[in-house]
Parts: sequence; C-alpha cells; structure tokens
Amino acid sequence: MTILRILDYPDPRLKTVAEAVVDINDPEVQQMISDMLETLENTPNCGGLAATQLDIKNPKRIFVFYDFIESEGTPAVPTCVVNPEIVHIEGEVFEEEGCMSVYPDYIQAKVTRPAITHMRAMDRHGKPVEYIRSGYLAKNFMHEIDHLNGKLYIDHLKPVKRTLVNGKITKAKRLKEKRA
Ligand code: NI
Repeated sequence: MTILRILDYPDPRLKTVAEAVVDINDPEVQQMISDMLETLENTPNCGGLAATQLDIKNPKRIFVFYDFIESEGTPAVPTCVVNPEIVHIEGEVFEEEGCMSVYPDYIQAKVTRPAITHMRAMDRHGKPVEYIRSGYLAKNFMHEIDHLNGKLYIDHLKPVKRTLVNGKITKAKRLKEKRA
C-alpha cells in the first residue's frame, strides 16, 4: 500500500472530473481504494479524501471518509464509497469549511450545505450502500462529490469573498513552501 500525496491548490488536476468505476474487481480500482484508505488513516485531522485530490493517474469516482453517526456518538470507521450519488438533501447550514488541498491550517470559509444528505453508492465489493447523515458528514458528502466533479468549496464563494480568500491562499502557499 502507498500513502498518496495530497494535491495542493492550484494544481490543475484538482479540476479533473472523475470517471465512474465500471469494473469494481479491476485490480487498479482495488489498489486505488486501499491506497486512499491508507492515506486517510495516515493524515492527521482529515475527515475525507476524494480520488481527484490525490496523486493518482486515472482517478475514479471514489472517496474515503470516517463514517459515524453524530447524534449517537458512534466510533469513526474508515469507509470508502464508489460512484456516489446524492439522492436527497434537506435543510441548509452555513458553516466554516476547509479542505486538505487548500491549506487547511490557514484557510476556512463559510459555505452553504444541506443539514441532511442522503447518498447512495457501492462499497469496495460492489454492494449497494446508503448513508443518511446529518451534521459534519452531510456537508462532507457534498464536499467530496464536488471534488469528484472538479470543484472545490472555495468555488462556491461569492466573488468578493473569493478575492479575499485568494489573497490568503497566496500567503499560505508562500508559508508552506518556506516550511518545506
Ligand atoms: Ni477537500
């Protein structure tokens, strides 16, 4: 297994629209899933990662996240979903968000997301799975599927706010490069 490199904005590959997985048993797909889970579990303070934000040759429609039920306080389980689709959303929240590809130590911004998200997908064995989650995961599912469509949370910002964030990104990028 390999720990994959997380791409940093403005890497052009973050704009890649991922292709659906056609054959779940394709060894390349299974390797991708194993590497993505390994990367999630070895990245501190990371709630989820999408294939298109990682250094992967042909990223597919796959994301990994820690599944838990917020209201029940269940333990966080590293989980992967393949070809995820949003079937229903409910409510609205406007809360701070960050992204592992957009200098998470420095940049957060408020984005409108659903309060409850109902998602359908396949697990790594091709079995249909369904998640209805509120709170953090309701937002995270939308965030990760945006990634698979080549979109970042900062792309949702209004122009004035985006300009402000762009300025912060330039500074954060410089700081990160200095630290490296
Ligand atoms: Ni992200």
